[in-house]
Amino acid sequence: MDKRKQKKKCTETSAQPDEMSKGSPPTAICKKTRNSRKSKIKFRCDYSPTPLKVLQARGWTRVQEPKDNSWDIWWCDTSELKLALDGPVKLEANQRVSHFRNHCELTRKNYLYRNLRRYRRLLVKANKSREAELCNAMPMSFELPAEYRMLVEEHRRCQGTTWIVKPAGGSQGRGIFLFQRLKDLTEWRTKECVMMPDASDLDTVPAVPVATYVVQKYIDNPYLLEGRKFDLRIYVLVTSFQPLKVWLAREGFARLSSEQFSLERIDERRVHLTNMSIQLKTEARKSEGERVQSLGRKLPLNWLRSHLTARHGRELVQRLLRNIAGIIMASLQSVQSVIIPSKNSFELYGYDVLLDANLRPWLLEINASPSLNATDPDDFRLKFDLIDDLLSVLDLERLLTGRETRVGGFDLLWDDAPVWSADQPRELNIFLGADNDRADQLKRLRERLGVTKVPGGGG
Ligand SMILES: Nc1ncnc2c1ncn2[C@@H]1O[C@H](COP(=O)(O)OP(=O)(O)O)[C@@H](O)[C@H]1O
Ligand SMILES: [Mg+2]
Repeated sequence: MDKRKQKKKCTETSAQPDEMSKGSPPTAICKKTRNSRKSKIKFRCDYSPTPLKVLQARGWTRVQEPKDNSWDIWWCDTSELKLALDGPVKLEANQRVSHFRNHCELTRKNYLYRNLRRYRRLLVKANKSREAELCNAMPMSFELPAEYRMLVEEHRRCQGTTWIVKPAGGSQGRGIFLFQRLKDLTEWRTKECVMMPDASDLDTVPAVPVATYVVQKYIDNPYLLEGRKFDLRIYVLVTSFQPLKVWLAREGFARLSSEQFSLERIDERRVHLTNMSIQLKTEARKSEGERVQSLGRKLPLNWLRSHLTARHGRELVQRLLRNIAGIIMASLQSVQSVIIPSKNSFELYGYDVLLDANLRPWLLEINASPSLNATDPDDFRLKFDLIDDLLSVLDLERLLTGRETRVGGFDLLWDDAPVWSADQPRELNIFLGADNDRADQLKRLRERLGVTKVPGGGG
């Protein structure tokens, strides 16, 4: 993080230092905020069941008529984004939409890799080696078909390496496989390209662009829990890219594979891919007895944090969390100049991060539409609270002072500069995997603001 840009963001109160500004916020802010409080919030949400439940639980009014443009927030699918942002009526400055226009700069695996590589070069030129190092967070990757030759060379150089092939715009583990011998990739590539029109047909058959794949070095020494591989799902809320404002959710989870890890079985997707969709398919196939024994499941981030702290000590775990936050910031800064700025957009990103046996975090991908469907009651609680707190951060009701560094389960990580913790002045405001006492925090926040309902309307 850029030292020169660092500014001490919060000077907060002693009782609960991480939640509020110290003393009363300037009267001007209070007056302005309280005079313009908004009570009737309207929303549009057509496809996402959990956000819909939260929006309704807040007592907000649903707009269902497609031509009705009076919504304050549209929780839309990425497929509806164009409609939401470029509808027939120009958006008002305070209407919010749940995605940024060209989110794919972060969420397509090949673009993310390119952006990080480009940003790294800039940092190296500027002699910012520590920041540049954070841009090496993704395993070495090649784009197919464009970089096939380079991949072949690298494969020759690193005999015995395992590689993973992923569709650049894929999700839920679809189309992913591992290989070690180049022969296996060539065979797959031949099959992939059979679907393409022959060059001689190009006059008659419209050319279909070849699907882009990312071939990535497979992290073959993952950190294991009871012999099983896992990866982390971390939630990050960006409320603005210009200036960059980033909130980090305390809660998240580790997705644990249901099978023992082994490089002997590279064809076994449930050993190597920790996606819930793949692990749940496995579960469905098992008998009841096996299901009880099986461990393909989610473990809360705070459990993992305590587990790692008990095994490796607080300092190492703090360093790991700082590293993860640094990687998150590097990825967002790498696209800051590329994302089309919009005052209307916000986005909840789902980061997939893998830890290797040396506790090095690897960034695998970033999702613009992380699954908000719950797999069990605990998962529902986590996702419901996550969205509820996100809506409090957005502050459509205009209750907050704008200087908060914590709202429920979200901590402000970046506000055009790093944000420092109030109670530990030499620490950054990172509480990833810390206990989420959101209900108490929101209660204190409400008391402080002199309001009775939101923030935390659903809880
Ligand atoms: N380079 C890698 N090394 C080790 N495991 C990986 C790697 N890339 C992906 N995986 C595993 O495959 C899963 C799916 O990969 P991901 O990049 O998240 O694609 P998808 O969009 O399909 O979820 C990850 O959750 C992880 O378990
Ligand atoms: Mg994924």
